[in-house]
Amino acid sequence: MNINGLRPRTGNGRKIYIETYGCQMNVGDTEIVVSLMQDEGYIYTENIAEADIILVNTCSVRDNAEQRIRGRLQEFRQYKKRKNDLLVGVIGCMAERLKEQLLEQEQIVDIVAGPDAYRDLPNLVRTAAAGGHGINVQLSREETYAEISPVRLDKSGVSAFIAIMRGCNNMCAYCVVPYTRGVERSRDPQTILREAHELFEAGYKEITLLGQNVNSYQWKEPDGSIIDFPELLKRVAEISPRLRVRFATSHPKDLSDKLLEVMAATPNLCRSIHLPAQSGSTRMLALMNRKYTREWYLERIAAIRRMLPDCAITTDLIAGFCSETEEDHEATLSLMREVGYDFAYMFKYSVRPNTKAARTMEDDVPEEVKTTRLQQIIELQNELSLTSNRRDIGKRFEVLVEGSSKRSEEQLFGRTSQNKVVIFDRGNYRPGDYVTVEITDCSSATLIGRPVTA
Ligand code: 5AD
Ligand code: SF4
Repeated sequence: MNINGLRPRTGNGRKIYIETYGCQMNVGDTEIVVSLMQDEGYIYTENIAEADIILVNTCSVRDNAEQRIRGRLQEFRQYKKRKNDLLVGVIGCMAERLKEQLLEQEQIVDIVAGPDAYRDLPNLVRTAAAGGHGINVQLSREETYAEISPVRLDKSGVSAFIAIMRGCNNMCAYCVVPYTRGVERSRDPQTILREAHELFEAGYKEITLLGQNVNSYQWKEPDGSIIDFPELLKRVAEISPRLRVRFATSHPKDLSDKLLEVMAATPNLCRSIHLPAQSGSTRMLALMNRKYTREWYLERIAAIRRMLPDCAITTDLIAGFCSETEEDHEATLSLMREVGYDFAYMFKYSVRPNTKAARTMEDDVPEEVKTTRLQQIIELQNELSLTSNRRDIGKRFEVLVEGSSKRSEEQLFGRTSQNKVVIFDRGNYRPGDYVTVEITDCSSATLIGRPVTA
């Protein structure tokens, strides 16, 4: 009998296990996939050994991400040996990039689904179970999975992500994302607000709005009026002053004064902006097709400092992009010092097949030079993070508690509005509480404090 009485469901209680790699968008996509599959009668499991279907939600952003996933796929052989009708699926960016090659190269793969093909997964599973190749890598101009309620897999119940758009139109020369995730499209704001409301009602205290470039979010209402990102942000923040709202990622070229004004006027919009610079050299930025100069980037930083003096600024940096000289590299180091980043994600350039850089530029910075430059960038960032954290000693912050500290059950960890992690003694506090904490000590990665009762 079919339980929901509407239509036959094909899952039939079979168990599905999903492993997720890559960015927060992927984490959110996994929650959409679980929701879609549960609707079909599949049961989600965290125990790989009991799975009937193993899915891997994959990342293609750098070669080492792909290599790790290929290694992991080989490890699944042991489960296939034990259960010969076990199906293995690759979904997400690697599925989109490699398409049927995955079925050929990785003999273990039965299902391949790109980021816009998740509604088709039940069909693909059926095809694969019947011995066929379950592959769908069709990209879409419209798909946003807008009406699907993701199944929240993170158990903390404090902080959640909401995807507000998909795809990317920026065409940075090094980046595979426009090819794996397709063109940019914004999600209906009504569905975003409904999801945010539901999360708040369920006890969540923090929401992060996600997209490859949230500042270009745009929705046209039937009456012709436009809802842009600052407007959307304002509406989500209005749900409650006790709901913290964050967003990621911003492209520097689209970071508007209007956004900064809305943030300044809205205390529950968190004081933290992730603004990937990639390089401090205008020549590199032009080759990367980033569409801004060092000076333009620094002007945006000045605007943030002017309008949001207590705002943390974080970034992404790439070492050793095509033709990068010592002088270009020095420009990145000097940009880092000038901005004084609170935190950074730092990478060695990795050629991605078919991108503009792969097609038209030479990957000519030797591996050991990339390694040295990345090391210098990391060392400098550690110093900058420590300086930033030391400045917080003696100050008080409102910390949203997320859970127990990794080191000790006696301590809790939470975050400041600036997104810095704070550790303090548990006392009677619980995840989801807002606690005023005075910072007493720090490392380059964490703040340590003690709760103060006002
Ligand atoms: N090589 C190295 N880093 C990359 N990124 C994107 N593409 C590449 C690549 N080919 C980095 C950028 C981006 C972050 C998500 O990953 O810094 O902002
Ligand atoms: Fe996310 Fe980019 Fe990796 Fe795709 S390639 S999972 S968009 S980081």
